[in-house]
Amino acid sequence: MHTTNFFKDKTLLITGGTGSFGQTLAKRLLIEDQCRKVIIFSRDEWKQWEMRQSAPIFSHPKIRYFLGDVRDKSRLKRAFSEVNYIVHAAALKQVPAAEYNPTEFIKTNIIGAMNVIDAAIDSGVEKVMALSTDKAANPINLYGATKLCADKLFVAGNSYVGARSHPTFAVVRYGNVLGSRGSVIPFWKKLLAEGAQALPITDKRMTRFWITLEQSVDFVLQSFLRSQGGEIFVPKIPSMKIVDLAQAFAPAIPHKYTGIREGEKLHELMIGLEDARHTLEFTDHYLIIPELYHHDESLKEKLLTRGEGRRLPEDFSYASNTNSQWLGIEALRQLILQL
Ligand SMILES: NC(=O)c1ccc[n+]([C@@H]2O[C@H](COP(=O)([O-])OP(=O)(O)OC[C@H]3O[C@@H](n4cnc5c(N)ncnc54)[C@H](OP(=O)(O)O)[C@@H]3O)[C@@H](O)[C@H]2O)c1
Repeated sequence: MHTTNFFKDKTLLITGGTGSFGQTLAKRLLIEDQCRKVIIFSRDEWKQWEMRQSAPIFSHPKIRYFLGDVRDKSRLKRAFSEVNYIVHAAALKQVPAAEYNPTEFIKTNIIGAMNVIDAAIDSGVEKVMALSTDKAANPINLYGATKLCADKLFVAGNSYVGARSHPTFAVVRYGNVLGSRGSVIPFWKKLLAEGAQALPITDKRMTRFWITLEQSVDFVLQSFLRSQGGEIFVPKIPSMKIVDLAQAFAPAIPHKYTGIREGEKLHELMIGLEDARHTLEFTDHYLIIPELYHHDESLKEKLLTRGEGRRLPEDFSYASNTNSQWLGIEALRQLILQL
């Protein structure tokens, strides 16, 4: 899908713009010269400085760096002035850190989402897309639970815009991002550089959904175009076995099984049975259409009438262990080489 005209002459702000996703999105928009301005919104001046130094594109005349915290609504309002679109990527996301510091995750991931919604409504923003995670589907850890709350807030945000038709709020939900900050490949690389003799793996049965940073940016941009408000967009992405990933990463290094960590699932879920009832299937993605927001005019019925999307079977769920698409060792090796 071509996105150029959609973003042309628009100002797009990325909360969490210095993160793995934010930088990849900013680079894409600046290289394709689509936007009027790209604003990076995050807390740490050092990360912003490092980003600016890391590549000439990040000193592009169209980029702005804005220090701020999503916990601070007045700062968000200041940042959102004259902004057309927002991609909300700021989050705390380390599962063990969430178990130990629940209140911090609640403040950033839930209160932060509330602030982004309020400030976007007050500032006349046109569209907001929030990033979610598979860990938000039937969550068992605090991180996933905070992201589920955020998803629900963004979906419900569409009810608060009043007579105006904007902003619209929607959500993109996907699985682990290959090579992102804090993910397993950088972790294994660091261990081997420090002389580790074995790769730690929590459980040999473990499976995960996997997406690359570039694919996640493609999907978010496409979903931005498709979104009417209230949807949760879920890409069709492959699964992989963690043992295959280790084999692809370092075939000669033995594995050390360390046991499943607190708050970790053996397999991830993107769409549970209950969500599947109000989900439609498209060629490359699923669309969860929350019933609450669309109770008057059913977006689901509208799409079905237009011949867009298919209903799913009663017993459908989208989980990493029952996925129909898999990445084998060779495919994973090729993906790792591109990191
Ligand atoms: N990586 C994955 O595997 C994955 C998978 C599925 C979904 N997601 C979701 O995708 C989004 C982006 O993930 P990522 O991998 O790019 O994360 P990341 O690399 O850890 O980046 C997080 C960004 O958020 C900013 N941030 C954190 N707390 C903030 C606050 N209170 N106010 C403003 N900015 C704040 C950070 O900068 P400062 O620290 O300087 O503020 C940083 O720019 C997250 O919402 C995450 O839940 C990620």
